[in-house]
Amino acid sequence: MEGLAKSADELHPVQRGFWEEHGLQCGYCTPGMIMTTSALLAEKPDPSEAEIRHAIEGNICRCTGYQQIVNAVQHAARLGKGGR
Ligand code: FES
Repeated sequence: MEGLAKSADELHPVQRGFWEEHGLQCGYCTPGMIMTTSALLAEKPDPSEAEIRHAIEGNICRCTGYQQIVNAVQHAARLGKGGR
């Protein structure tokens, strides 16, 4: 997951999305969520909410209720830089 960022000063758009939209609480699920949604956005830069929820359905989060994660991915998509 650390390799997604271009440098220590420039986060990947999905990392930025999780940071700026508070897409995590304890962080246990976060690496899996970020890797999964980075792959989603690389394939589909503007996914619907249903497509985001489908993509992350294999990752369990016990904290966020998923809405903040969906918001984070939508934010990353809006940044227009979903993939590398
Ligand atoms: S943020 Fe705690 S499990 Fe997802």
